[in-house]
Parts: sequence; C-alpha cells; structure tokens
Amino acid sequence: MQAQTIFDKLWEDYTAQNPDVKKVYNLFEEEGEEVVNDHIAFRTFNDRRVNIEVLAKPFLKAGYIYKDSYEFKDKHLTARHYEFEPFKNAPRVFISQLKLEELSSSLRQIAISSIDNIPMNLLKSEELIFSGRTWGTPSYRIYENLRSESEYAAWVYVYGFRVNHFTVSVNFLNKYNTIQKVNEFLKKNGFLLNDSGGEIKGSPGKLLEQSSIKAGIKPVKFLEGTYEIPSCYYEFARRYPDKDGRLFSGFIAKSADKIFESTDYYSRKKRKG
Ligand code: NI
Repeated sequence: MQAQTIFDKLWEDYTAQNPDVKKVYNLFEEEGEEVVNDHIAFRTFNDRRVNIEVLAKPFLKAGYIYKDSYEFKDKHLTARHYEFEPFKNAPRVFISQLKLEELSSSLRQIAISSIDNIPMNLLKSEELIFSGRTWGTPSYRIYENLRSESEYAAWVYVYGFRVNHFTVSVNFLNKYNTIQKVNEFLKKNGFLLNDSGGEIKGSPGKLLEQSSIKAGIKPVKFLEGTYEIPSCYYEFARRYPDKDGRLFSGFIAKSADKIFESTDYYSRKKRKG
C-alpha cells in the first residue's frame, strides 16, 4: 500500500471518531490556509503481537524509515518515530506503546486477553492499523478500572488500532503562522485546548512548539450501556530550524508527555458558538 493511500484511509476513520477535527480543518481551509499534516500517532501495548514494530510494518513497506526513540517513564510508555525519506514534507509517524510488565497484573491480563481475541489473520495483515477495536464490546467497569491506573490503557481498550491524532503543521500556515495565533483562533471558535502543562508545550529554544484541542466526546456502546467518553484529538505543531539551519524533525518527550493527556477523561462542557 502506498503511503498516501494509508493516510487517506486513516484520516477517514479518524475524522469519524471526532467530528470537531473536520470542523477545524474546514475553518482553516475557509481562511485560505493549506492544511499540511506534520505527524500522526498510534497507541498500542508492547505485546510482541501488536507492538510498535508490528504497527510500523505497513509504513516501512511504503518507504518509511526509523528515526528516533523516546521514553515516558511516568506513563510507562516508549515510542518511536518514522519518516519518509524521499519526501521531507510527508507526515512523520509516531507510535507509542504501554509497557505491560510495569503495570498491575489485572491491567496486564485485560490487555493480553484483548489481544488474544484479535483474529490471527488480522495480526499478520497490513489491515491491523485500520482495524480499530477487534475484541468485541468493551465493559464500562473495565474501562473505569483501567482509567484509574492508565488513561492510555483505557483509550486503547476502547478504540484499539486507529490514529489517535493527526497534526496541523503551523509552519505551512500563512495567516495563523504561530501557535499563539492558532490557539486564539481555536478558542474563538469554541474549541477546548488541552492546558495540561500550559496551552503551549515546548518553546522556540527547544525547536518545537505544540498544542492540541481536547479529545472529542463520543457516545460509545459498552456492555453496561452507552457512555460518552473522550475519543481522538487534533494537534498543532510549529518546528524551528537548529543552529545549522535544519528544521527540527523529532519530538520532545517532556512536551509529548503532556500532549498524551489530551484524551484524559472529562465531561462535555458548554461551548460557545
Ligand atoms: Ni503528536
């Protein structure tokens, strides 16, 4: 599968999870902006059947290469990012995974039995990254239990394998060419920003600034009934050149650590507009 085909397919599923994403995308287009994707992100467990290397396979086949690794100790995560060498403006692919051995045995058991329920042919196929949740209807009680230990685990349990966020490259925007301007524009239009660690993560000195809107609230069918919970979110990133004039292309662990919290549980607040 070609990279563009993969991204188109992922975008379709992702925007269906959170209608706000399409609203933000359209708002920028209406302002005459070109929306370029800086990166996408997946979440998974470090089980060898579905770990980072497994999810990266379709991208490697499409010409992506491994670039860098990251660690998020407090959240028990590791991550890797991949880039498409032939075309520098192609979106980066960021994949993180939860270190199951560092979590409670009950959480570990839920993750493993979920993975046990993935059809074998899907585990071996390139379709895994498009498959979402394949372990049946989730339990709200289990979701809440997971959430008390790891919001990340709870998200993967409900949403499975799909893109957690796409990212608007602020470098390609003309009118909204700073993170500050993007944030003001989003707030003016009634979107809630993730303010964990401040509305802007990173700094020009760190060569990367990021912000994000909070995940959309989506009704999900659980065994116990339908509950509204956070789904996917949209991120915004501005990159700066290093002292050699090369645009920084990696990620800042300390910033990403806070960006992960864009999917933390919250209840829908009244929004203007
Ligand atoms: Ni991101």
